[in-house]
Amino acid sequence: MKKLLMVACAFALACQQTTKEMPTTTDTTTATTPVTEQRVSVPPSHSWSRPEEAAVEHLTLDLGVDFTKKQLAGKATLRIRNSGSANKLVLDTRDLTISRVTRDDGTAANYRVGDVQGTFGAPLEIDITPQTKSVTIEYVSSPNAAALQWLEPPQTAGKKHPFLLSQSQSILARTWVPIQDTPSVRFTYDATLRVPKELMAVMSASNPTAKSTDGVYKFSMPQPIPSYLLAISVGDLAFRSLGRNTGVYAEPSVVERAASEFADTQKMVTAAEELYGPYRWGRYDMLVLPPSFPFGGMENPRLTFLTPTMIAGDRSLVSLIAHELAHSWSGNLVTNAAWNDFWLNEGFTTYIERRISEKLYGKDHAEMLWTLGLKELRDDFETLPDADEHLVLNLNGRDPDEGATQVPYEKGALFLRLIEQTAGRDKFDAFLRKYFDDHAFQTMTTDRFIQLLRERLLVPNRIDETALQMSAWLHGPGLPPNAPLPKSEAFVTVEAQAKAAASGAAPSMLQTTGWTTQEWLHFLHSLPKDIGAEKMAQLDQQFAFTKSGNNEILAAWLELAVDNRYEAAYPALEQFLTSQGRRKFLKPLYTKLAATPEGLERAKQIYAKARPTYHSVSVQTIDEILKWQ
Ligand code: BES
Ligand code: ZN
Repeated sequence: MKKLLMVACAFALACQQTTKEMPTTTDTTTATTPVTEQRVSVPPSHSWSRPEEAAVEHLTLDLGVDFTKKQLAGKATLRIRNSGSANKLVLDTRDLTISRVTRDDGTAANYRVGDVQGTFGAPLEIDITPQTKSVTIEYVSSPNAAALQWLEPPQTAGKKHPFLLSQSQSILARTWVPIQDTPSVRFTYDATLRVPKELMAVMSASNPTAKSTDGVYKFSMPQPIPSYLLAISVGDLAFRSLGRNTGVYAEPSVVERAASEFADTQKMVTAAEELYGPYRWGRYDMLVLPPSFPFGGMENPRLTFLTPTMIAGDRSLVSLIAHELAHSWSGNLVTNAAWNDFWLNEGFTTYIERRISEKLYGKDHAEMLWTLGLKELRDDFETLPDADEHLVLNLNGRDPDEGATQVPYEKGALFLRLIEQTAGRDKFDAFLRKYFDDHAFQTMTTDRFIQLLRERLLVPNRIDETALQMSAWLHGPGLPPNAPLPKSEAFVTVEAQAKAAASGAAPSMLQTTGWTTQEWLHFLHSLPKDIGAEKMAQLDQQFAFTKSGNNEILAAWLELAVDNRYEAAYPALEQFLTSQGRRKFLKPLYTKLAATPEGLERAKQIYAKARPTYHSVSVQTIDEILKWQ
């Protein structure tokens, strides 16, 4: 359920521009469907900027990182490309305090900050002339900047130093940099950061491998990127090399474990290059964050950000690395032009993730990943409104985060699998490789992709496109009847064991020898939702799920524990909810708890403690589930 939010225009100019998107007043008295949509008069780009008039082409950041004030302070210089006669540069800001704006000729520039419109922040309109080459904005960020999380030492592995992390996707970059915060604008950047001497700073750019003596760090990102890929982190970090152009950053007490878990990364880079052409970003490093990081991973260029909860000790969850690496082609190189086309980022990436996993670990393993993904997709179909099950989304006026369901990921990937199956793997691989070459560092829309698909794959190979039912995939709900369904033989065996367990077989009699994490996950998913606390206790006795060191298995087990009020797992549940902040793990658990009055009470008690340790992205989601004020 989403809240209704009607907001006035930021200022007259924006009003005129976006009149067509202005919502008509929703009649709440006669509505038969719940009034859920958050509709605002922000353009479909989710940005106030008007890059067609004047666009940012290079950003220079010069910032001090102040852990006491929890703020970034300094300046951003934006080099601009004027389309001809523009006399305004419009940027996005949210919770930034701007003290001064100057132009490259040294003169102070007039500027105004428009009205704040919730998640979308406020436009910053700067007066320029057609001759203006750059503007410099002096500003400080807010301690509540939604992209940033300022961690106290107890929230880190080392417990001695504070830590800063960022998460800019989808439209949070504007909370720490005044920028044209839309995926359709690309710019190069360089940065100077001043941080406490005992800490290291890293960004989505060229990075240091050791601490500097003076706490000053310089970065450069010579490839043009969209704003959602801007990233910063500061902490007590160490670096380990993993291969020719791969490595890992983490706190010193974590870095060895991480390096051993990530041992296959260089091979993944090679596998991806064999499929889709050269890796164009120089190095591929990863940063393991403290457990409050709200996502599994984030594909910040040159430096993927990762949750530590994926370190299982047996490398069983590294498809997450394959996923974030795959974004180096789908997303970072060829970027969705607007968030409505999010499947072009995530569906392609999920498909490529599976292809990399297949190359490294074989078809059987990849089919398990496809099947687990399909299960999550079907779970989402249970609760999503029809329109949000289309590949092409309508996120206009809504927080683009609302589109981040399994639909763009798994339905998107299955659509590509269908095309692969229809055209043949070799032809589809060649098509995709050329797609990345031809559109490197550019944006892409669904319409353009379909046009390319027709011109370069379907027509030349005389493939009858009616068989693809493209409009059902792109503009229809659920899975079309021609959806390719993954088949895992191993999982058929697992299902038989789950059935036996459910119908009373003693857990000690189950045939589970040699099961991988994916088989255990499928086993847990295959148990009846209402298996009962008694059978849960027997299974726990035999397999010690409550003590699992694998966070995916633990999360799946704890969901069952809540469903069945298996109280022996409640201390572990509380520990899990208070020791990590990954939204994918938190959301289903809080949702299930909130389904009963006692559960909701328990959830609220836990959340009161945990909330201050979560990133704003997770806080926003859980606040809504628990109706937290
Ligand atoms: N780019 C996403 C994370 C994201 C999506 C952030 C939407 C903000 C809005 C990242 O690549 C991703 O998909 N992460 C997944 C892991 C993946 C294996 C499905 C995650 O964090 O769960
Ligand atoms: Zn992704």
